[in-house]
Amino acid sequence: MGDSMEGFKRTHNCGQLRIDDIESEVTLMGWVQRRRDHGGLIFVDLRDRYGITQVVFNPDVNRESHEKAALLRSEYVIAIKGDVSKRPEGTKNPNLSTGEIEVLVKELNVLNDARTPPFPIEEDADVAEDTRLKYRYMDLRRRKLQRNLILRNKAAKTIREYLYNEGFLEIETPFLTKSTPEGARDYLVPSRVNPGNFYALPQSPQLFKQLLMIAGYDRYFQIVKCFRDEDLRADRQPEFTQIDMELSFIDREDIFRIVEGMMALVFKEVLNVDIKTPFKRLTYDDALERYGVDNPDTRFGLELKDVSDIFEKSELRVFADAVKQGGVVKAVNAKGCSGFSRKDMDNLVDLARVYGARGLAWLKYESGTWQSPIAKFLNDSDKTALYERMNLSEGDMLLLVADQAKIANGALGRLRLNIAERLGIIKQDTFDFTWIVDFPLLEYDQDEMRYTAMHHPFTAPIDEDIPKLKTEPDRVRAKAYDLVLNGSEIGGGSLRIYQRELQSAMFEVLKIGEEQATAKFGFLLEALTYGAPPHGGMAIGFDRLIMILAGAESIRDVIAFPKTQRATCLMTEAPSKVDSKQLAELSLRLSLSK
Ligand code: AMO
Repeated sequence: MGDSMEGFKRTHNCGQLRIDDIESEVTLMGWVQRRRDHGGLIFVDLRDRYGITQVVFNPDVNRESHEKAALLRSEYVIAIKGDVSKRPEGTKNPNLSTGEIEVLVKELNVLNDARTPPFPIEEDADVAEDTRLKYRYMDLRRRKLQRNLILRNKAAKTIREYLYNEGFLEIETPFLTKSTPEGARDYLVPSRVNPGNFYALPQSPQLFKQLLMIAGYDRYFQIVKCFRDEDLRADRQPEFTQIDMELSFIDREDIFRIVEGMMALVFKEVLNVDIKTPFKRLTYDDALERYGVDNPDTRFGLELKDVSDIFEKSELRVFADAVKQGGVVKAVNAKGCSGFSRKDMDNLVDLARVYGARGLAWLKYESGTWQSPIAKFLNDSDKTALYERMNLSEGDMLLLVADQAKIANGALGRLRLNIAERLGIIKQDTFDFTWIVDFPLLEYDQDEMRYTAMHHPFTAPIDEDIPKLKTEPDRVRAKAYDLVLNGSEIGGGSLRIYQRELQSAMFEVLKIGEEQATAKFGFLLEALTYGAPPHGGMAIGFDRLIMILAGAESIRDVIAFPKTQRATCLMTEAPSKVDSKQLAELSLRLSLSK
């Protein structure tokens, strides 16, 4: 049993005391970061979330406290009372905000002991992530995670204040609801009182925010959890947070202006970085053409070029045939990479395969000659054309993929990133925002043999493309936009369909029957008939934004209690089995295959 707090009242935190405080009596509480015994004196680094203060136990000041201090170990929780003193010359620590002072302890209470921590609570301790997640409360004591969570809080506060100033209302929407149309799998919650019926956790508040517009709330926002049962990655969690917004009587430019202002303010407040607005814009088609992906990292060049016309007539049959069959040949100039070894090339080819390409061709340009297994198929005019198109110089290497445009772009787009990382040409500390605009409204789903909405079925088509809905659905563009920052999709949104007839036309294209539409979204369709204003909005992936602000590699480093890649929580061991009584109450029976 430890001592109590009796007689101790915290006066300062562990990051607070400065040279101006010397000679005052203070009471500090916190965790023992480190204990050092030195020539009769005991030094303890006392830590809390604000910082570290050195406290000193001297047997001549208080023998009993000194004896107790000798028993202190890492992560014990203590309270001390003492006098602030200037550190002797030569012992100052410029790395600590409190590094000019120390506290000479007069009284010590050990509030709690602690078992040996599963890992050292140090900034850069190299610890397996599974262990960190199991003991997340210990991990959260580390400076790096504290910094991330404090930064996250500051960003949230800045965003809230900004949106309040812009006239937004923060309104909560339900978690126990019906399936929403974001296209991932739902998390379902069985209803006890309605046996056999399920709620779905919202993939986003999409439908509710549209209903709030119909209800006349004009400007809504929420910093809100969303739930999606999808394959997880370094920037994806099954439950994640959105800054969700919706506005009425606005056009796209209004939304862009508000979001740009919000980003500029957040980066200024959190990082003291000036962000230039307005952000540049890139159409979806141009993004794919030039960068291969719709979330391009625009901090460096290495742009993709279409070289189909050069290869169409060449002797290289596989390439020429690919073009004749409606495919393309795309190329990227990996600047200065002609020195890549055999093994490097094998790795690149493997990567291209992972990204869906059947193969990857390369041409190295060294001492004015072309080195490549495919060089012999190219005549001089092919080479000259390539040389000029690809802006080739000594020591460069071309990477080429011949395939359907989607595959060629996708594979080279990712290889482009890989090469840039290897070359170290991605400018750090740069924040490059791009709006991706003019998305296609629809995507053809080969498996289902029908069109599906690229964003969601309530996204409005661009007015002039509406006549093409029936005739050329592929060519209808949407009033949808994404916001991309340094190659990460940090947000997306659209102007919505607000007229019932257009919504019906959309469902028809999507082959969603009236009955099915009513069963799924009947309430919204009905609401559209009761005076729906023109409206639109957007959601920013808050965790992703924080990742970039904090320079974090993983989304798990900016979430207090994240899930693993397998959607489990190693600390609580969720998800877990439930007992048969609970299942029976929910009228559920399991049929698990062995
Ligand atoms: P969308 O589905 O594009 O749009 O989501 C918006 C943003 O949320 C982030 N995001 C995620 N972050 C972490 N883990 C995930 N699993 C995850 N999924 C998405 C991304 C994404 O850009 N209702 C629409 C918005 C609208 O139209 O207003 C929506 O949810 O950064």
